[in-house]
Amino acid sequence: MRVPVLRTRAIDAVEIMDGDCDPEKLDRTYADFPVVNRVVSGWRGMYRRSIRPGLSTTRPSTLLDIGSGGGDVSRCLARWAARDGLRLEVTAIDPDPRAHAWASAQPAVAGLTFRRALSSELVAEGARFDFVVSNHILHHLNAAELQGVLADSQALARCGALHADIARGRLAYLGFSLGTWPFFRRSYIRADGLTSIRRSFTARELRAVAPPGWRVRRAHPYRLELRWRAPQASTSAAATGAAPDVRPDA
Ligand SMILES: C[S@@+](CC[C@H](N)C(=O)[O-])C[C@H]1O[C@@H](n2cnc3c(N)ncnc32)[C@H](O)[C@@H]1O
Repeated sequence: MRVPVLRTRAIDAVEIMDGDCDPEKLDRTYADFPVVNRVVSGWRGMYRRSIRPGLSTTRPSTLLDIGSGGGDVSRCLARWAARDGLRLEVTAIDPDPRAHAWASAQPAVAGLTFRRALSSELVAEGARFDFVVSNHILHHLNAAELQGVLADSQALARCGALHADIARGRLAYLGFSLGTWPFFRRSYIRADGLTSIRRSFTARELRAVAPPGWRVRRAHPYRLELRWRAPQASTSAAATGAAPDVRPDA
């Protein structure tokens, strides 16, 4: 197996599912996302450390998942909060009609709403959420789109934002390549996962493009967390425990 050098981001590499691809294989890709996200994404830990401490059993909180794709991260967050007896309304947005159709067709989860929208459309509406998150979208975006999504996140989040993604690395590429080789033959998971790793940032690269106020945390194995905390969240709300905790080191 040939592992590419990965010294620089493969920004010209295109994921198959971002183009005009086989709809059945695309649906199987959305169906496979929960397996991959459970193994590699680490949202259970981020929920426990960074979101759950800000939720309440009585006061409702709101969370926006930008670029929710098949919606499995949103579904997990809504279910975990409900299981913990905490009040959380999750809005999951994705502009791709195929992703929106697939996610909306899955069994409903209490407290979770899917919308076909870009983050910029919610900003234009004047929408606000306590917490803004995303999974695996940073590497998808070009330079202008990345700055746009981060500016949107700041406009939309009352307390803070947390964008999680892959960290590029040869070991990550080799591990994903070997780990997925026997599986996912009927979806785009393996091919697009490898392209995603090639497109992803290193921690240093993400720090270099992150606007002021954003912090990059390297999480293992081969994960990046890009966090922003609203200035007002670090004072009154956070002090009373009423704000989701998005400290850079949380
Ligand atoms: C690789 S998918 C990630 C899906 C899902 N978050 C996951 O982890 O399985 C990236 C998604 O981001 C969406 N996206 C890109 N830019 C966006 C924006 N500005 N607002 C909302 N969604 C966006 C794309 O349509 C695509 O479905």
